[in-house]
Amino acid sequence: MNEKIAIARAPANVALVKYFGKRDVDLNLPAAGSLSLTLTPLETTTEVQTDPSLASDEIFMDGVIADPSFSRRVSGFLNLVREMAGARIHARVRTQNNFPTAAGLASSASGFAALAVAGSKAYDLSLDELRLSALARRGSGSAARSIPGGIVVWEKGEQRDGLDSTARSIADPGDWDLRLIAGVTDPGPKKIGSTEAMECTRKTSPYYAGWIESTRVDLAEAIAAVNDRNLEKLGEITERSALSMHGAALAARPAILFWNGVTVEALHLVRELRAKGLQAWFTCDAGPQPKILCSPDDELSIADALSQLPGITDIIRCKLTSGARLI
Ligand code: DP6
Repeated sequence: MNEKIAIARAPANVALVKYFGKRDVDLNLPAAGSLSLTLTPLETTTEVQTDPSLASDEIFMDGVIADPSFSRRVSGFLNLVREMAGARIHARVRTQNNFPTAAGLASSASGFAALAVAGSKAYDLSLDELRLSALARRGSGSAARSIPGGIVVWEKGEQRDGLDSTARSIADPGDWDLRLIAGVTDPGPKKIGSTEAMECTRKTSPYYAGWIESTRVDLAEAIAAVNDRNLEKLGEITERSALSMHGAALAARPAILFWNGVTVEALHLVRELRAKGLQAWFTCDAGPQPKILCSPDDELSIADALSQLPGITDIIRCKLTSGARLI
């Protein structure tokens, strides 16, 4: 196999019905399905260049050699691609996010989606969207959801090999104008990674079973709300899914607390804005950054109120976009 280059760009996604618990740790198979928004402008661009002269993979992040744990994860993922392609040649990978890495802004989702698209192309694999989504999932569960665009459902799947645990779009970006505002309170890397946090919650939280059970109900209701274009309903499910996930994590032993004080203030703010009649619902992932689902009409007032909250250092206004692609 000769030298070959492929470049892909993948958007981040934020789950409204969260994935937080695995039925298979090695394959990143979720214990329940989830629903997310594929969002612009948060994105990762990744170049994969196969090179017969390399003795091992070379991984660069933002132009410099990546740290060993990140490089191992990327190289492990490339091993899966090589296995599928029947290839042995190593690769040089250059990856860049246009937002803070590993701070709870979904960098592993856009990162592994971009790597799946560029890596499979560089190794001459021809994969359709569902197979790309199953491949991206192996890097990071939520990456499965950054392959399709718009509003996305990632199925739990029933098979042990996980080939039916893939993500698909249930609404295109142009079908429904939803907005999401991400607040940055602390751009540094998070204290506990989502993989470790969800395993600890699965093994030790007395609320874990209830959390997974409620997610099944939330997912079915959220899909119905999307089909009906019912923002009130989707917002209500979004906020309760996030709070239930964090509740289950807080009950883990030792307790997992992703939030800081600003996150809590943002939650109060969202509830106050709603009491005033604005369409705003809180969500938050495995980090302290508050995120607000809202209607386009209320976006500017909500963004303004959030940016005035002490401790918010930046806000990123997002809307729906199409999925990962080669460039
Ligand atoms: C809280 O996809 O980062 O953001 O599969 O272990 O890599 P791994 O976890 P990851 O988990 C994301 C968890 C979440 C909720 C969500 O995005 O659904």
